[in-house]
Amino acid sequence: MKIAFIGVGNVGAPLADHLQQLGHEVTIAARDTNSQSVQAALQRNPQLQVQSPTVAVQSAEVVFLATPFAANQAALAEAGDLSGKILVDCTNPVGANLSHGLQSERSGAEFVQSLVPQARVVKAFTIYGFENFEDNAYPGYGDLKPAMLIAGNDADAKQVISTLCQALGWEPVDTGTLAMSLHLEHMTLLWIQMARVQRRGAGFVWAMLQKPQ
Ligand SMILES: NC(=O)c1ccc[n+]([C@@H]2O[C@H](COP(=O)([O-])OP(=O)(O)OC[C@H]3O[C@@H](n4cnc5c(N)ncnc54)[C@H](OP(=O)(O)O)[C@@H]3O)[C@@H](O)[C@H]2O)c1
Repeated sequence: MKIAFIGVGNVGAPLADHLQQLGHEVTIAARDTNSQSVQAALQRNPQLQVQSPTVAVQSAEVVFLATPFAANQAALAEAGDLSGKILVDCTNPVGANLSHGLQSERSGAEFVQSLVPQARVVKAFTIYGFENFEDNAYPGYGDLKPAMLIAGNDADAKQVISTLCQALGWEPVDTGTLAMSLHLEHMTLLWIQMARVQRRGAGFVWAMLQKPQ
C-alpha cells in the first residue's frame, strides 16, 4: 500500500519505519527535506522515500497526519487535494494544564475533517505515548494484544486502518463515528496524566476484553 506521512517526529517516524518494514511503500511528505525530523527518519530507515507534500499525498492511498495540532491547518493546506484519501489523524489538541485543546466542545479529529471535507478521516494512533508506537510488544499476556481504539465515519477507511493496526501488532477497536474521537482524545489526556504526570512511565496500554455476544 502507498502511504504518505505528514510529520515524522516522535509519532510519525516509528510508524513510518514499521510500516515500511511490513512491506508498504512509505513516503515522507516533506516541506523541508533537510529538517531534523526528516533527516532522522531517513537515517533510521533509508528505505523511506521523500517527496514534496503534494506529490507524496497525491500518490498515496493512506496519509498519516502526525504534526503538532497547531500546525495541522498549515500542513494540510500544503498537502494539496486529499479527496477520497484516507487521512489518519494521529494528532491531539492538548490545552493548558492538560485540558482538551478545543475545550471538549468538539474533537480535534472533527476539526481536521472540517479542513479537508473530502478526505476520509480516521482517528488512530493517539491514546498512548510515542514509546508504544516504537514498541508495542507486551510479552506475558498470551494472545492478548494492546488495543488501538479508532473512530471514523467511513467504514471502508476504518477497515483499511484496522488491518494496518493488526499488522503492527494492535487489536483494533472500532469505537464508532468520528465524533467519538472526543472521547479518545480524553483517553490520551488520561494516559499522559498517568504516564508522565503521575510518573507511572510510558510502558502501559489498554486492552479490550469482550464477552461473546
Ligand atoms: N509525542 C507523543 O507521545 C504523542 C503520542 C500520540 C499523539 N501525539 C500527537 O502527534 C502529533 C505529533 O507529535 P510528535 O511528538 O510526533 O511531534 P514532533 O516530534 O514535534 O514532530 C512533529 C512533526 O511535524 C512536522 N511539522 C511541524 N509543523 C509542520 C507543518 N506546518 N507542516 C508540515 N509538517 C510540520 C515536523 O517537521 P519539522 O521537523 O520539519 O518541523 C515533525 O516532523 C501531535 O499532534 C501530538 O499531540 C503525540
